[in-house]
Amino acid sequence: MDKYIAANWKMNNDFSDIPSYVEYLDKNLENKNNVVVCVPHVMLKTFADAANGIVETGAENCYFAEKGAYTGETSAKMVKSAGASYVIIGHSERRQYFGETNEIVSKKIAAALSAGLKVIFCIGEKLEQKENFKEVLNEQIVDGLAGITDFSDIIVAYEPVWAIGTGVVATIDDIKTVHAYIKSVLKEKFGVDLPILYGGSVKPENSAEIMALEDVGGVLVGGACLKADSFAQIAKSR
Ligand code: 13P
Repeated sequence: MDKYIAANWKMNNDFSDIPSYVEYLDKNLENKNNVVVCVPHVMLKTFADAANGIVETGAENCYFAEKGAYTGETSAKMVKSAGASYVIIGHSERRQYFGETNEIVSKKIAAALSAGLKVIFCIGEKLEQKENFKEVLNEQIVDGLAGITDFSDIIVAYEPVWAIGTGVVATIDDIKTVHAYIKSVLKEKFGVDLPILYGGSVKPENSAEIMALEDVGGVLVGGACLKADSFAQIAKSR
């Protein structure tokens, strides 16, 4: 199976970037399988319309309630109806700046799956937790996936918080060790074998080496995805 190449625009780029971004990927990527671009909610429909049949569109978050008095929130169903097929849930920036707990993440995953979205479920330890990464990741996985019975639309993304936006990439040995650990937890606790993406300062210079690793199911890219040419180089390196 093709490895996943996922972009996370975060709170960057604009409507005006969409046509040229999609056009560049269309012209320059021979293999567009499993290429997903996650954009801010407000740009979802425009991006999805432009990307239709070229690459997949994803959201960066959604709320767990189906509808109601939740000013400013966006439901999974709304995300889906805007044309997205993926949603990132539990990104460390959501956990850090918006108070998302494992319990909230778990509710959001359930809501996203029932709306028919594929979930990119993010986990990762902070710098001060690096020694204890097993405990932290085990809890994030077990609590985040609590109650899930169908795992066919779930992809895990391991993003060590200390490697996000810092230019510090986990070493190849770190990635091997941690991905093997995540794989073992998924197998032991849930009996599943899911793709596990790596994220954290991935760029064209290091993506090939990372993606060549057996337990790495692809990459989730922040800073280096904002320009289409750099994201395309990463996609070509798989
Ligand atoms: P950077 O690639 O900028 O480190 O961000 C990674 C990330 O958080 C993707 O979700």
